[in-house]
Amino acid sequence: MPTAQRAAASTAKPKRTLENRVNDMSWRDWLLFQKSFFALPGDEVLYGDLVQFFTKRLAPDGRTNRVMAITVSDWRPAIEAHGRMLFRETVAPQDIGRWRYGETDFTPFDFIVVDMRGSGAAMAEQVAAQQGDVRRFLDNCRAILKEGGFCVLLSQEVETAAGRFPLPWMLASLARGTFRLRDERIGLQADDAAPVYVNVLQAIPENGPVHEALPTLHVGAPAIREQWVKPRPKPRNKKEILHPAKFPEELIQTFVTELTDKGAVVFDPMGGTGSTAVAALATDRKAVIVELGDTWAEIARGRIADAAGDARGRWHVAHGDARKAAKLIPAAFRPVSYTVTSPPYWRILHNPGMHVSDEGQKARQAKGLRTTYSESKADLGNVQDYQHFIDELASIYDCCADVMAPGCVLTIVTKNVKYERAQYPIAWDLVLKLCGEGGRFEYAGTTFWCQDDVGLKPFGMGCDWISNILHNYCLHLRVR
Ligand SMILES: C[S@@+](CC[C@H](N)C(=O)[O-])C[C@H]1O[C@@H](n2cnc3c(N)ncnc32)[C@H](O)[C@@H]1O
Repeated sequence: MPTAQRAAASTAKPKRTLENRVNDMSWRDWLLFQKSFFALPGDEVLYGDLVQFFTKRLAPDGRTNRVMAITVSDWRPAIEAHGRMLFRETVAPQDIGRWRYGETDFTPFDFIVVDMRGSGAAMAEQVAAQQGDVRRFLDNCRAILKEGGFCVLLSQEVETAAGRFPLPWMLASLARGTFRLRDERIGLQADDAAPVYVNVLQAIPENGPVHEALPTLHVGAPAIREQWVKPRPKPRNKKEILHPAKFPEELIQTFVTELTDKGAVVFDPMGGTGSTAVAALATDRKAVIVELGDTWAEIARGRIADAAGDARGRWHVAHGDARKAAKLIPAAFRPVSYTVTSPPYWRILHNPGMHVSDEGQKARQAKGLRTTYSESKADLGNVQDYQHFIDELASIYDCCADVMAPGCVLTIVTKNVKYERAQYPIAWDLVLKLCGEGGRFEYAGTTFWCQDDVGLKPFGMGCDWISNILHNYCLHLRVR
């Protein structure tokens, strides 16, 4: 070997191979599992994938890992555990409060699946009326799970006599008193079948906000048939890219055409670059928006004027605070028929973790583009405290109800976010606030906006479950 090569070989560090401490999966399969939405497979594959991700076949001491499946209603025979020891329990919704694992002397389970699918309206009633029973059931699940182990909740929204009840959010919110809420995966089905939520919980203390008691929700008939959409937005132009987070016009057009007639007024209290207005004008509606940032309001005016052509008097952009939205809408744009909007996702654009790991944010910094909306104190993206953020936002949406007739729909596009390892379910908490006792809205269903055009990142690979959250909630609420 030549001297230079020998010197290089002696100083080269030994190649480190990443150890997979969580499961026996290939890195490719791991990465695919991190995507927060997926096409729902049959039960056997669904269970198999979960068991494969959340357990190794053998524990460090050489014993076979143990998996518990607890199902409501009928036992699902398709389940098998790929070489792990499988235990099964069935519990009826009315017995949830009394359920305890029967054996007194047992090794804790390594992974638990609680399958609440198919529990129907009985479970919705149980959760709404008997929250203590559900908490007790979850405490019992925690008691048989090893420290640090994962438990997943499978559930779907259920049809009740009043309307569609968001069972998955209620279960996962109640679970926060017992487990740490990690995040969720959404199993999409064809046509208008309700998606399956896979809520991931971990047996470690919670480090985010916990609800003492959940309110009784006002629910109604779904506003929109689509349970999920995957728009293919065209790349953003030079002006649009200046804004850190716009939504695609294609998404909004779907809602506008389904929920309003031609000539109707569409409103957005946090209009950003004017996407709502562009979508409304493209479908022959009128548009009015409010936006706090002067740069964004200016960009919106330019974009909307281009889209409107000679359709003068059909749009209006107000530069101001959405807290005063009702006063900022000119008389010619009242009443509003439909409101659609996306708020800042709390202070997520300030999250230092995100700036390091998110290539979009890093690339924006490198190009000198803004990574937050503004420095203004009035900007909802700069509110420090999470509960204060939810309260402020809810009061803005209450003002929107002042300019809409009963029965009109407000669609809020948002996401459940992670911040410093805790989960902040903005979507659920907003609905609980706006549609709870005394709230001015009723919950009328969710359409998931699934972002298939964003690359996957290998967060936590080999060490921990950290998903890529690529689904946004489009929450449809009806004015009561
Ligand atoms: C997620 S962005 C909306 C983007 C918009 N949907 C689009 O497609 O361009 C949220 C917007 O809310 C604005 N905003 C934050 N606080 C506000 C407030 N108090 N009043 C009005 N707008 C506000 C921000 O400036 C930002 O443009």
